[in-house]
Amino acid sequence: MFMTKSSLRAVLGAVTLALLQPLPAEAAGGDHISIAKQPWSFAGFSGQYDKEQLQRGFRVYRDVCKACHGMKRIAFRNLVQPGGPEFDEEAVKALAASWDNKITDGPNEKGKMFERPAKLSDPILGPHKNEAEARDTFNGALPPDLSIIVKARTVEPTAPWYTHIFLMARDILTGYQEAGADYLYALLMGYKDPPAGVTLGDGMSYNAAFPGHQIAMVQPIQTEGSVDYSKDDSGKAMANYAGPKMSMEQNARDVTAFLAWAADPSLNDRKRIGWQAMLYLLVTTFLLYLAKKRIWARVKH
Ligand code: HEC
Repeated sequence: MFMTKSSLRAVLGAVTLALLQPLPAEAAGGDHISIAKQPWSFAGFSGQYDKEQLQRGFRVYRDVCKACHGMKRIAFRNLVQPGGPEFDEEAVKALAASWDNKITDGPNEKGKMFERPAKLSDPILGPHKNEAEARDTFNGALPPDLSIIVKARTVEPTAPWYTHIFLMARDILTGYQEAGADYLYALLMGYKDPPAGVTLGDGMSYNAAFPGHQIAMVQPIQTEGSVDYSKDDSGKAMANYAGPKMSMEQNARDVTAFLAWAADPSLNDRKRIGWQAMLYLLVTTFLLYLAKKRIWARVKH
């Protein structure tokens, strides 16, 4: 389509104006939410999940988060597979059978749906049958399914807009992909008393990392920690326990690592195979170079 000079100028003007608009966070009175990067074992180009950490993280999910959140894209059998928490298969079978949130199956020979205990192939369900039931429980708020929450969240840049392209380049060069995990950790650690002048809605809590700062989830991990890894499921102290102690930071870090695995279960394999492929290509390049030298050595040019 032909564009006149003046209409082109109008379009360019509008684009420039749009670019000069402050970011939403800035527009809301300079309310920057800055979220710190955390040291994750699975970070960068070669990071891998720490199996023990994923096992502890699953325990935090099971003992705390499961009361409100499901993980329907993860099946019990995934907890056994390589690259994840790698629990023992028999233990996971027993866990699935005793999971509080039963599976609706059917119809049976009478045409009725019925509930049965979960099997290895079943998804890890939360307590609510559907979204409406969940919202009804939480005053209208929805506790989201946590299977891919780490991929669904990120950290909004707080620096001026014209630096974003450089920040993106830096993240690509350093292999930074853990923004979702950094946000989740900050969210779990972000419960504070509301600052003076902030009134919270009914049943809401103040959270430094949550956009808008008012969240309908009560602080899930207690300040002194919620899950004591040195005790077994019956609450008995384990002999020779040598892992980390219970603390809020440790519980939050472990459950975040577990949810990062749930959102990207093939990361271990992908990063390992990536390096192998690079090495293979490097060796091939060198061999091709030698072959080329040899073939062209006899040609005068
Ligand atoms: C008592 C119920 C309850 C428990 C226990 C609970 N949550 Fe929540 N969670 C909620 C509700 C309700 C919301 C929705 C909050 C909102 O939209 O304001 C929510 C929201 C979230 C969100 C989404 C935040 C966002 O950015 O939108 C994440 C992530 C989350 N919870 C993680 C967890 C984790 C991890 C645990 C366990 C350590 C946990 N929750 C335990 C009720 C709970």
